[in-house]
Amino acid sequence: MPSAGSIDAPERVDVPVATISTPTRIALFGLGRVGSALARLAAASGHSGPPIQISGALVRTSAGRDRPRSVPTTTDAQSLLDARPEAVVEVLGGLEPARSLVLETLRRGIPIVTANKSLLAAHGEELFETAARSGAPLRYEACVIAGVPFLGTFEQRPFAATVTRVVGILNGTSHFIVSRLEEGAAYTDALSEVQRLGFAEPDASNDVNGTDAAEKLAILFRLFGKLRVAASDIDTAGIEGLTTLDIAQAKIFGGTIKPLAFADWSDPKRTSAFVGPALLQTGHPLGSFGGVTNGICLRRSAGGSLFYSGPGTGPDVTAATLLDDVLEAISSRTPRRVWEPARAVSVRFPGALSWFVRLQSNTRLPEATDVADLLASHGIWSCRVSSTVTRDGLEWRWFRTYPCPADRLSAALAALSAATSCEAWRVPTLEVADAD
Ligand SMILES: NC(=O)c1ccc[n+]([C@@H]2O[C@H](COP(=O)([O-])OP(=O)(O)OC[C@H]3O[C@@H](n4cnc5c(N)ncnc54)[C@H](OP(=O)(O)O)[C@@H]3O)[C@@H](O)[C@H]2O)c1
Repeated sequence: MPSAGSIDAPERVDVPVATISTPTRIALFGLGRVGSALARLAAASGHSGPPIQISGALVRTSAGRDRPRSVPTTTDAQSLLDARPEAVVEVLGGLEPARSLVLETLRRGIPIVTANKSLLAAHGEELFETAARSGAPLRYEACVIAGVPFLGTFEQRPFAATVTRVVGILNGTSHFIVSRLEEGAAYTDALSEVQRLGFAEPDASNDVNGTDAAEKLAILFRLFGKLRVAASDIDTAGIEGLTTLDIAQAKIFGGTIKPLAFADWSDPKRTSAFVGPALLQTGHPLGSFGGVTNGICLRRSAGGSLFYSGPGTGPDVTAATLLDDVLEAISSRTPRRVWEPARAVSVRFPGALSWFVRLQSNTRLPEATDVADLLASHGIWSCRVSSTVTRDGLEWRWFRTYPCPADRLSAALAALSAATSCEAWRVPTLEVADAD
């Protein structure tokens, strides 16, 4: 018997310590910016994961700039698959041949990981169904806010994933540009800077025109709402028309302009979404950071909202997330959820929002009272008006409206432009309560 106060020493059990002798063998579809970053990370000494060997990479042309020399390249995808890698990472981009190759990989029972949001937004249904039938995992954490692992968490936690509204900053390039405009930079300078830093594609059109964020929203619709939404159906506006003056005025109006993505399916009769710059009322978490950082607020029917933020773009961040997905995919082949087809729905712009409107004229703007009267005759009421600013030979004025439907505002502004030859630009505004 042990004496009072002493603790029995546990019997020693020798547990075999797992030794990882053979590296995990993976193949890459694509060896561009992300594929090369992944290969370098896998080869780096002292990374925190188990050893990984890149067995080969599919490329379009045999000679490529800045490719890691250690990775054998090929233009023959079949030879890569015939070598039976333990997993494949698809970082080709675009729809074809990515779609056909991902399908073939899954049909061969090989786990696949992708960073290709365009592919998942357009063909997610077919790919997830094929994955479910073959039993091979399909992971896509790097598709939305690559540096913040949250998609996989919710895939494994259906009881927590009772999300009915998503509001996020999902594109780092457009967020960087808007942040630099806020500091007074010119749009073209901000765009060149983010490209020089390596965060934006050489052709950044899909970042700045909202297409990239709309594709990510389509992926979130599927994961959280089990809804199939075409990215092209989402009302999408770019940041190209935004100026430093708009952002400065937004501050005076008690907010900040951010490139937002919004989706809500809490009302079964109305699924709404938009992508574009929006005035976010001061105090919202999405207004509290700038640069290439991304953020997302998830409103849950189970109660409470969640907020995640972190790096969303860049080859190195994306590569790390892809490798973690690879390790998860090969360590557990159990499907995270029973696959069920997503329900196709059409989406509309949210019902009635308040708007932040800019009027601009190269002659004289009409009197504010005349503008208010004309808009009121179309059922639009303005609640706050700035004084007129003259800059670069133009007159500018901003005002906010009470909540009204988007199409009613469009009709009223078209009538105003026709009557007074001033131009109007507007963005929706989200209150803190709307946005979380
Ligand atoms: N860049 C980022 O920071 C980032 C972040 C998150 C997600 N993503 C996603 O990651 C994916 C890859 O992006 P990336 O920036 O690495 O693209 P990238 O630099 O353009 O690289 C694409 C690679 O795929 C190869 N490829 C393209 N089409 C091919 C074809 N038809 N046949 C064979 N090989 C082909 C290219 O071959 P060649 O070398 O011969 O041209 C290249 O090696 C995209 O889906 C992107 O949206 C990127």
